[in-house]
Amino acid sequence: MSATTIASTRHGVSHRVENFTESVIREMTRLAMEHDAINLAQGFPDFAAPDFIKEAAIQAIREDVNQYSVTWGDPALRQAIAAKYQRIYHMPVEPDRHVTVCCGATEAMISTLIAVLNPGDETVIFEPFYENYGPDSILSGAQPRFVPLRPSPAGWSFDRDELAAAFNARTRAIIINTPNNPTGKVFTRAELEYIRDLCVRWDALAITDEIYEHILYDGRQHLPIATLDGMQERTITISGVSKTFSVTGWRIGWALAPEALANGIRKVHDFLTVGAPAPLQIGAAHAIDHGDEYCRRLAGEYAARRARLVPPLQAAGFNCQLPEGAYYVIAGIERFAEPGDGADTAFARRLVRETGVAGVPGSSFYHDPRLGQSQIRFCFPKQDATLDAAVARLRRLAPRR
Ligand SMILES: Cc1ncc(COP(=O)(O)O)c(C=O)c1O
Repeated sequence: MSATTIASTRHGVSHRVENFTESVIREMTRLAMEHDAINLAQGFPDFAAPDFIKEAAIQAIREDVNQYSVTWGDPALRQAIAAKYQRIYHMPVEPDRHVTVCCGATEAMISTLIAVLNPGDETVIFEPFYENYGPDSILSGAQPRFVPLRPSPAGWSFDRDELAAAFNARTRAIIINTPNNPTGKVFTRAELEYIRDLCVRWDALAITDEIYEHILYDGRQHLPIATLDGMQERTITISGVSKTFSVTGWRIGWALAPEALANGIRKVHDFLTVGAPAPLQIGAAHAIDHGDEYCRRLAGEYAARRARLVPPLQAAGFNCQLPEGAYYVIAGIERFAEPGDGADTAFARRLVRETGVAGVPGSSFYHDPRLGQSQIRFCFPKQDATLDAAVARLRRLAPRR
């Protein structure tokens, strides 16, 4: 080994981390600030969180809930989560056996993957996928197999044979995100049943990220795969309060799992973070206990935001369809950018500098960047004035010659 190699090994980052690409969303947010652009890149609200939940957290701090809580979650929050799943989805969840409260769905996902995967295991991931699942797979040491979701006039869907071909004896888990970031897809009952049958056939787990469970459009209902026959014992259901209650900075999420798996997740969670912020857990418990009506209104509010952004995007020349859920839209940029490697990133940078709107280059959501080179993702958890200003700017965009 040469001296240079030794030096770079000792002082450089690990091989594992070397393979991470830095989050493009962060770069876009930085560029947006530099150019005073409207940030439709990072998926967080620019409006206030509801007062009833803020008050509960403030009260908890005043009452001195300021020390570590139980590692796997304050009993009041675990109770609130279990009661909610029972009330809304008729899912039997026990606070002491099944629930682990984590620092957001993000930590719930990585703690789960570390807890259930061994090196050499395979995971099945639909693509395009939420950015974190790439590094998550590397950290857990498993090998991901990607199955494409493709847009069609009827919405984004997968080919059943392609999905079946991705499963084999090494498959330990499939990661499902419904409602989906970035496509807006909501998996149908028939699709989830098909996935269930594959999980049962190959004795695989379903790890399901349901963080947008209350943001569905056009009368769609959320269906947790854990409620399908045969799935409760092989599903880890992940969600949180970030998106539902517009508190992405609180870092409260959870994983619901069969007891043996929950014990593993709790161990990883404990060593990674010790616990989620204690007073904010009390605020989250209050939100969940008293938030059903608020949650019912949420989808309508987001439908209005979707209507404010997506049809104008289509009229401006972006090739996109109405998302079925969540608060993102993937838009084709064929009309504005020459196709080619890096076209999406070049377009996104140009859009920030020249038009004053930030989005996320499509390549961020694919294992092979070329697959996303004709796409950009915009998000719409924004005030009307923000969305209107973005639309006014995007209308000025000139098509390529
Ligand atoms: C699919 C998906 N999962 C998880 C998260 C993050 O959730 P949390 O804030 O609870 O970590 C996001 C945020 O954008 C997301 O889009």
